[in-house]
Amino acid sequence: MDMAVLASGYGSNLQAIVNAVQNGGISGRVAVVISDRKGAYALQRARDSGIEALFIDPREHERRDAYDKAILEILHNRRIHLVILAGFMRLLTASFVQEFKSRIMNIHPSLLPAFPGLDGVKQALAYGVKVSGCTVHFVDEGLDTGPIILQEAVPVCDKDTEESLHARIHKVEHRLYPRAIQLFIEGKLHLEGRRCLADEN
Ligand code: GRF
Repeated sequence: MDMAVLASGYGSNLQAIVNAVQNGGISGRVAVVISDRKGAYALQRARDSGIEALFIDPREHERRDAYDKAILEILHNRRIHLVILAGFMRLLTASFVQEFKSRIMNIHPSLLPAFPGLDGVKQALAYGVKVSGCTVHFVDEGLDTGPIILQEAVPVCDKDTEESLHARIHKVEHRLYPRAIQLFIEGKLHLEGRRCLADEN
């Protein structure tokens, strides 16, 4: 199954996915990595792994729908089946989401529905929760509101800074995201309303 990863930044989740493809944990192929930031390290990681890396400049497509159309064209040309958001800092338009309905995943650094949107780790720390974590979910038209595929808790320590907590959450993300992707590829995810049931046997 051909997949596209959309990433705006450091790309450690992209790297975990690429590693899982290489070691057989994911039986698909990352065909293209797309970024809205020219200097995103994710693009470099893609190039280093021999994956097509594309920067699509938001300034050349000022309207959101024009930008999303440019990405959709790339995805269709490459017959992409699954779109993976890995630190992609833009909200997709409703028509993009419709075209890839239940075929777009995202990972978020909190236990949704708590602390959606920007700075999920910072929000959790500021609120004072004792347990946070990460969530892999399907993308719908809302902000981090789609059906939850997998979640895992990460304890918050009194000494935690945003950096130290995010680092522990990242470690879990790198395990959780490839697992969710492989469940999808194996056809083991079933949606019942907004519940996503995973047949892990
Ligand atoms: C991750 O924490 C993810 O949950 C959030 O953005 C961060 C991306 O990190 N959506 P990286 O670029 O994959 O290292």
